[in-house]
Amino acid sequence: MSSAYLQLLDATIAHLETLKGLGVGWVPVRRDTLLSIASPSLTPLSSVARRDIAKTVSPAFQNSQSPSIPSENLASASPQSSVVPPAVRSEAAMSRWSKAVAVVPSTSSSFQTSLVAAPLPSPLPPEARAAAMAELRSQIFACSRCSHLAASRQSVVFGVGDIHAKILFVGEAPGVEEDLCGEPFAGPAGELLTKILTAMGLGRESVFITNLLKCRPDTPGDSAGNRKPKPDEVSTCLPWLERQIDLVQPRVVVALGASAVEGLLGKGTAGISQLRGSWQNYRGLPLMPTYHPAYLLRNLALSEKRKVWEDMLQVMERAGYPVSTKQRGFFLTKD
Ligand code: URA
Repeated sequence: MSSAYLQLLDATIAHLETLKGLGVGWVPVRRDTLLSIASPSLTPLSSVARRDIAKTVSPAFQNSQSPSIPSENLASASPQSSVVPPAVRSEAAMSRWSKAVAVVPSTSSSFQTSLVAAPLPSPLPPEARAAAMAELRSQIFACSRCSHLAASRQSVVFGVGDIHAKILFVGEAPGVEEDLCGEPFAGPAGELLTKILTAMGLGRESVFITNLLKCRPDTPGDSAGNRKPKPDEVSTCLPWLERQIDLVQPRVVVALGASAVEGLLGKGTAGISQLRGSWQNYRGLPLMPTYHPAYLLRNLALSEKRKVWEDMLQVMERAGYPVSTKQRGFFLTKD
């Protein structure tokens, strides 16, 4: 019980309780950190997770009675020494962990799922789902957690489509066009996504389309630019996406591009070119990673289109849509 790990646990609890006392309702925590701490008996804390926890806890050291933990025990411990000590597997220690995690979302129920990587809740009946989605929409529209993005945005880009869809597509973040019109995938990449859907025999209205971030990543001094979301923006916004997925409960999630894959599955997953085409598990739902349509606009090779198409054939089958012989043959030859 006197290990650095337990000291860290105490410091985390103390810090979170201090924050809670100050009225803080939530703190961003990376999914992989949560997964690491959720099953400490099996999972060594990843270096990212250790760094993340250290970052969360460190302010507490300056202002509270929390025990001070030598930084080498946090960020630079060897992989061997980062394995959670067996003592932590005790019931008492686990309940202290739950307490630490439970403190975080207790004043904001809509953020619970991101903190415990919970399995999906039971699906809501249609009317309740529509009401919950409308409520979620108004919460997201009012969100200003990333104050810099709230200040620069023209629109909050919630998502479009059928809230009862069998397939839910997740992209990276709104770009300039999406920010202007408030719809995801409204620019050139969106046109290509629409064409892919048409080839699948579907329309934008029959699937649900959204992004990891609901606001356009700002590019100060370059109003027409786009940039990748930063990790803290992703962890701040992710709970909104998780809630959308909780409500839609699609049969299949499609993660478009590396950012979406990493946001949903956590860092430490393989790269998109390795992962695409192979089913992943997202909180019990089948998740298909595939290339982002913007990649297909940059790389015009037929072989790349075919790869995405093969992923979509798998998605159609898994979602229960029929696949014709003609569809199976798309993008095999140039004509
Ligand atoms: N790229 C994305 O990932 N999402 C959009 O909405 C548009 C472009």
